[in-house]
Amino acid sequence: MTDVKFAAVTDESIGRLVDEFYTKVRADPALGPVFMHAVHDWDSHLATLRDFWSSVMLTTGRYKGNPVAKHRQVEGISHDLFARWLALFDETARALFEPALAAVFNAKAARIAESLQLAVFYRPDRPWPPTAA
Ligand code: HEM
Repeated sequence: MTDVKFAAVTDESIGRLVDEFYTKVRADPALGPVFMHAVHDWDSHLATLRDFWSSVMLTTGRYKGNPVAKHRQVEGISHDLFARWLALFDETARALFEPALAAVFNAKAARIAESLQLAVFYRPDRPWPPTAA
């Protein structure tokens, strides 16, 4: 098996990352059902996510949306699922990109995941970060 990894972030390499990541997400026993329940048009979801990562990594400004509002509506979303999401994303980015680039993707994903979790779960009367239940 060849192990040639992307050495540049381009629309093409972002497309591969998005496709392979959501293929894993759909097959994942914990994340899969949550996504299958919420996403009805996968082509449109994947196109949105390509735009999102293009905006994050290439500052193309192509994504115009409100991820906080969207994630507040996702039934079954939880802290544990965020950890799983990040682990799968990390695995996918490392498999496709050279280590330094995978690290940039993963740092961005972790930062965005943190701010999404604050927006979705934080309550002023509860400790943050949340203690394990
Ligand atoms: C537990 C973790 C997560 C779950 C279960 C989850 C689930 C979902 C679902 C179901 C949607 C589709 C919502 C809809 O169309 O109504 C969605 C959209 C999206 N997610 Fe996540 N997500 C998670 C974490 C993340 C993270 C960490 C990021 C970014 C690093 C992210 C980025 C996005 C974006 C950009 C959209 C598109 C929002 C839009 O339509 O404008 N998600 N997510």
